[in-house]
Amino acid sequence: MDIFCPHVKPYECLNMKRVQFWLRIMKEHSLFMKLGFACSDTDLIRQAECFYNEFAAFEEQSHDICCDEEFMAFVDRIMVPVKNIFAFKRHVLHLLVTCEIGGYNYPLLIDHISREAMYFHKLLGKIQNGTTKHPVDSIVSDNVFWLRHMADHARFIAGLLDPSERDFVEKANEFAVQFEKLQLQARDLDSMLWHSCPNNDLNRFEKDVTAATTKIRDFKKAARDLIASCKVVSLIPPLLADHVLREAEYFLQVLEEIQQDLTCMAVSPVKTADF
Ligand SMILES: [Fe+2]
Ligand SMILES: [Fe+2]
Repeated sequence: MDIFCPHVKPYECLNMKRVQFWLRIMKEHSLFMKLGFACSDTDLIRQAECFYNEFAAFEEQSHDICCDEEFMAFVDRIMVPVKNIFAFKRHVLHLLVTCEIGGYNYPLLIDHISREAMYFHKLLGKIQNGTTKHPVDSIVSDNVFWLRHMADHARFIAGLLDPSERDFVEKANEFAVQFEKLQLQARDLDSMLWHSCPNNDLNRFEKDVTAATTKIRDFKKAARDLIASCKVVSLIPPLLADHVLREAEYFLQVLEEIQQDLTCMAVSPVKTADF
């Protein structure tokens, strides 16, 4: 996928919006981790607060950028803090899976948010380099990443809803199964189309993924609104509900760009086999 907008300066285009999106996401991850630590883990709480403040400051500074040079310097500057928050998340995950700390952070949630930090770090690398060598590999790996994350979100929602909300729990589990299947299909395409050209199967797959993602986006939106107006009981903070909704919207944007890229890439005419 071409991550640069043609004829538009990088700081004015999608790249800036993406960087701002991820800075906010990193800031909110720090808050979610902090809220999930046991109150006796004061050092971890303090470190999460430091990350929160650091990413909040970057978010603010990003609004003052007014030229490409400043944008690229800003991208260089945030590479290390993004790597640091990734390392912090992996450290917390290690403490959780070895039962050295308690609290209320699911290990899979910490793993999930560490993957998002790594995704952001890779995106910054792509912005610095400006090119994507194998567009199809990039398209499929984006699908693998996001489909896994949509499935994780559905599992988290099912696990954090009050068990009395049976219909919602069931619906969330159905989404999890659907996205896990789509993720497996994306992984198959990943190896089948490695270093290759888009085929009609990939085109059809992208349409299926877009339809499923639109549905989970609508489900998350309904859940966010119900949680915010206290019409559903759960352990999901309104900010977390909004956070996963924004990530589904981001994935839909990625899918829109993939669609544009696929339209631009030449697809060789399909030969009809003589059966
Ligand atoms: Fe996230
Ligand atoms: Fe996520």
